[in-house]
Amino acid sequence: MSLVPSFISSLSPYVPGKPIEETEREYGIKNAVKLASNENPLGPSPKAMEAIARALPKMHLYPDGASFYFKNRLADFLKVTPAELMLGNGSNELIEFLIRTFVHGDDELLISAGTFVVYKISAQAVGRKFVEVPMKERHYDLEAMAAAVTPKTRLVFIANPDNPTGSYQTEAALVRFLESVGEKVLVVMDEAYFEYVQAADYPNTMALRARFPNLIILRTFSKAYGLAGMRLGYGIARPELVDFVNRVRAPFNVSVIAQAGGIAALDDQEHVRRTVELNRKGLDQLTAELPGLGLSLTPSQSNFMLVDFHRPAMPLFEALLREGVITRPMGGYGFHSSLRINTGTEQDHEKLLGALKKVLSA
Ligand SMILES: Cc1ncc(COP(=O)(O)O)c(C=O)c1O
Repeated sequence: MSLVPSFISSLSPYVPGKPIEETEREYGIKNAVKLASNENPLGPSPKAMEAIARALPKMHLYPDGASFYFKNRLADFLKVTPAELMLGNGSNELIEFLIRTFVHGDDELLISAGTFVVYKISAQAVGRKFVEVPMKERHYDLEAMAAAVTPKTRLVFIANPDNPTGSYQTEAALVRFLESVGEKVLVVMDEAYFEYVQAADYPNTMALRARFPNLIILRTFSKAYGLAGMRLGYGIARPELVDFVNRVRAPFNVSVIAQAGGIAALDDQEHVRRTVELNRKGLDQLTAELPGLGLSLTPSQSNFMLVDFHRPAMPLFEALLREGVITRPMGGYGFHSSLRINTGTEQDHEKLLGALKKVLSA
């Protein structure tokens, strides 16, 4: 008899971006740049670092399981009540909680093919069923997803903007989708990158919640706040849904450090503004320069671009590693000729563009 069910033995685990130290060791290089995990090139919010240092003497104590002070500060910031907030060890954990709380038995999770792979890994890991709808030209096909909803559909995940394509859905398209699926299906808007969005027709999901009580919004401190290593994400939903999730989560899932750092990070909107501005310049530069190298881009509302090399991308990924530039292969998402590259500092981009020119002319 197998030790685990087949949904576990057949599970392909998440493949993270290659760490800088490992790459430098493996290739015998120095000063590698990592543009592989959509991290913040400006680093953490300085105010968050100070608050974390101040919290260290309390590390022998369990954190406040209700995250009282952080939740209140976040509620204030978002103009919601604390009862509408769920917190996670990164928004990744909230994805798992939502699946474990709301999808059971024959219920189904509806997702897009080619999107953030954690949705399907999290479902498969707990033996939940999921249905994938193909993308249309590297965009979610919301019309096809609406048509794929059945009485079994309980939960839908929509990454907006999407990872790894960077593409987004407009408010008009989302409203059509929400009207079509009805209130019984919970619709999770994963807005991990929403701080970076520039598009005027991007949905105001906070306002849409009044009309669509089945909306759940997920956001994170990992990207624009520069705190991926701290692990803090949050969800906004109606109190009844938050209460169910709170029954499923572990009591101390948000650490002492995350609670302290999260409050200070919210107080450091200047860091977010600097981050967003650097990203805008970075996207503009990549958009201006990469097509000249024969590469195609999906327009991005995020802090990364899906770059199509029009040939198998793995050898190019390897060649870029040898030049000290870590990007992210996307074959696992079905984009075999593409690499995902996040924006960096001016120096990072100089190194990236130099390396791209070199490997493409080899
Ligand atoms: C679309 C999307 N959602 C959620 C996450 C999870 O982020 P975290 O768990 O760091 O909050 C990521 C991270 O890359 C992401 O790209």
